[in-house]
Amino acid sequence: MNWHLDVESFEERQRILHDTAILGPWYQSFDLADWLKIGAVHDGNSVLGHLDALGFPGDFSGKTVLDVGCNAGYYSFVAKRRGAGRVVGVELDDHFVRQAQYLSRLLRIDVDFLHNDAHNVDTRLGNFDMIICTGLMYHIPDPTTVLARLAAVCADTILIESEFLIDPGLTHMARFIEGPYRGDSTNWWIYGPKCLEDMVRAAGFQEAQFKGFYFDPHGEETEEGIPRGGRGLLIGRKHGM
Ligand SMILES: C[S@@+](CC[C@H](N)C(=O)[O-])C[C@H]1O[C@@H](n2cnc3c(N)ncnc32)[C@H](O)[C@@H]1O
Repeated sequence: MNWHLDVESFEERQRILHDTAILGPWYQSFDLADWLKIGAVHDGNSVLGHLDALGFPGDFSGKTVLDVGCNAGYYSFVAKRRGAGRVVGVELDDHFVRQAQYLSRLLRIDVDFLHNDAHNVDTRLGNFDMIICTGLMYHIPDPTTVLARLAAVCADTILIESEFLIDPGLTHMARFIEGPYRGDSTNWWIYGPKCLEDMVRAAGFQEAQFKGFYFDPHGEETEEGIPRGGRGLLIGRKHGM
């Protein structure tokens, strides 16, 4: 997505370049203008293309949206640009909340970014037609609690992008990660697609459907010797597909 940041003045551009440098390091990349590209590890535009092909909505018209584990707000902004009404982003790390709030002001995209833990989400935040939950489930030590809390505030659809076990023989299983995974010790669980479908239904969604992998490093291992997971999209609905 090109965010079409429109700034003519040289001084203003210099100030924005300075501010975005000070706000780093970034995890999410943003192609803000031809003179301002925030380059980071996560290329949202490329992932979004894959998710769109798997059924991520192209139209959020009038929907209320919760983006949980929102980081610098990429998917919140996508939802807004695709027509969403009220959008709330929840993020555990204050550093990323500051980035999201800065971009919200800069791009004039009205999103309420909150410093909060997914484990604490409840109806005080409101009720939401759609929940976006990308790259979060494997960072959650207590996934059944978080899914139940998300189900309690969700009126319609949850969009879960995650790392998944690739081996079809393990589809009903989950792997617990005791130490680091790909050098990151905040990873706890990798779910088989059927396992996460079951968990999403048990949490209070009537339907859950794994939509497929968009990244499949079959047979590869991480530097820790753990089989690498693939990435895919799962969609849950409160009242059936
Ligand atoms: C892999 S990043 C994914 C960010 C974004 N959703 C995306 O797909 O680009 C995981 C994000 O979840 C946040 N996070 C991790 N644990 C969380 C929690 N318990 N509550 C809220 N956010 C959390 C991290 O700080 C990080 O920004």
